[in-house]
Amino acid sequence: GSGGGLQGVQVLMTVGPTREAIDPVRFIGNRSSGKMGYALAAALQQRGAQVTAVAGPTSIAPGPGLAPIAVESALEMEAEVMERVTDCQMFIAAAAVADYRPETSASAKIKKDADSIGLRLVRNPDILARVAALDKPPFTVGFAAETDQVEVHARAKLEAKRLSMIAANQVGSGEGGFESDRNALICLWREGRRELPMMPKPALAAALAALIEERYGAQIAG
Ligand code: PMT
Repeated sequence: GSGGGLQGVQVLMTVGPTREAIDPVRFIGNRSSGKMGYALAAALQQRGAQVTAVAGPTSIAPGPGLAPIAVESALEMEAEVMERVTDCQMFIAAAAVADYRPETSASAKIKKDADSIGLRLVRNPDILARVAALDKPPFTVGFAAETDQVEVHARAKLEAKRLSMIAANQVGSGEGGFESDRNALICLWREGRRELPMMPKPALAAALAALIEERYGAQIAG
């Protein structure tokens, strides 16, 4: 839309899961449909933002005004983000990035001869932390997916990664979180918090986009 409060603001987002290859046919990954990230991208566009999304393999289609850069793995996602982030005023990490990847990926399909096999995993880079640690970081918004003590863990991530803001959701039990059509968020920044109650993801994304615009404006002013 025109005249929104994010008019002309360049926003880079990560959306969806990543897939870490074990061999050409198998992978490990995180649960994420892309619904939350794509809903937020659309809500930010409504407010006038220019949104670029780097997206892992999702089961849903992006909004009509978005042409995501498609990636599979965390390393690919990191490379696409780092190539583009210096041109952006805002970075939002909605993706569920796999924290670990297989140390090696077999070039041919692994045969199921053995009763058990070992899989050695190595840490993936933290894309969000890397962006927040840049010399001149953009306004940086993380998500936090937590199964317990949602607010405590989210505030720890906000502070450890030096984020502008974090949007925390409960996952793994009850309503909301990944794959659901609904979600609820506890949004935290250094000196404040706001709870956005359980609702459909498009409405939740609209409320989150309004809060992001508010906090972004406060940071520019301050
Ligand atoms: O896609 P949906 O099905 O709609 O589900 C939405 C969602 C639950 C996936 C989404 O709302 C959400 O919470 N996304 C973040 C999931 C996550 O990986 O959270 P985390 O607490 O593990 O990570 C914290 C933050 O660091 C996140 O912003 C994440 O994108 C980022 N991160 C994590 C690891 C990594 N290697 N790189 C990162 O950038």
